Amino acid sequence: MSKLALYNAAFVSNEHVGGNIYLMKFVCPPLANSIKAGQFVHLQLPCASEHLLRRPFSVYRSDAQTGVLEILYAQIGEGTRLLAQLDARHVDTINMIGAIGNSWQDMHPVCERDRVLLVGAGLGSAPLYMWARYLYEHSIPCDAILAARSAEYLCTRLDYQRIVSSLTCTTDDGSFGIPGTCIPVVERLIKEAQNQGTPYTCISVCGPSIVMKLVSNLAHDFGIFCQVSLERSMACGIGACLSCTADTHCGKKRVCIDGPVFDASELVW
Ligand code: FES
Repeated sequence: MSKLALYNAAFVSNEHVGGNIYLMKFVCPPLANSIKAGQFVHLQLPCASEHLLRRPFSVYRSDAQTGVLEILYAQIGEGTRLLAQLDARHVDTINMIGAIGNSWQDMHPVCERDRVLLVGAGLGSAPLYMWARYLYEHSIPCDAILAARSAEYLCTRLDYQRIVSSLTCTTDDGSFGIPGTCIPVVERLIKEAQNQGTPYTCISVCGPSIVMKLVSNLAHDFGIFCQVSLERSMACGIGACLSCTADTHCGKKRVCIDGPVFDASELVW
């Protein structure tokens, strides 16, 4: 696990990329060098009143050479409204704790016979992208499904397209890709991979709880290991406050340090 530390990261940019989604970039070489796919940072909102707690954000992309890290977030509440207003001309640094949590590869160390299916619904595509890159760099075949409410929310599509073996998009309103939910597509791809004689060995999912649950059920039915990344509000981010627990078959676990990536079969859905 990467070493946990407090950083003042240089704030580079904050850009609207589609729907209610923004992309924030900052420079923090030690963090960019050490963070693993699926880990997150706990970010202090500049200009926010003191009662606003730090917010957890998964890292979308990191570049060890330039030290740049990128976070994708949706403007959905007071904290992210303030974040969306941040202007790099007026804010120099952002205070953050990182890298926090486990990674996709901690939960599923890859081997030569692997074939991985990624399912990212909504902003669930963000914590999966570094995992997709990791698999690409390790020459592990990887198919991806991205699901969104409409075309404008598929802002990670082109990045994925460059590195995955195949990409399928679904939209609720049919404005891009296959209309409707991603679940029938997951089932179809699982069956196709089996018929090709190269079944999936791992399914990695992030998105709304119902999507993770249904994909997890499908994975169970087909005997495939499934890992999910959970999202919770987090007060401390370091395992001390118990504000972020998830129910598992072994009792409650802290999403911040026992996760955020879990074996889906461990969880009580
Ligand atoms: Fe405090 Fe997880 S956020 S224990």
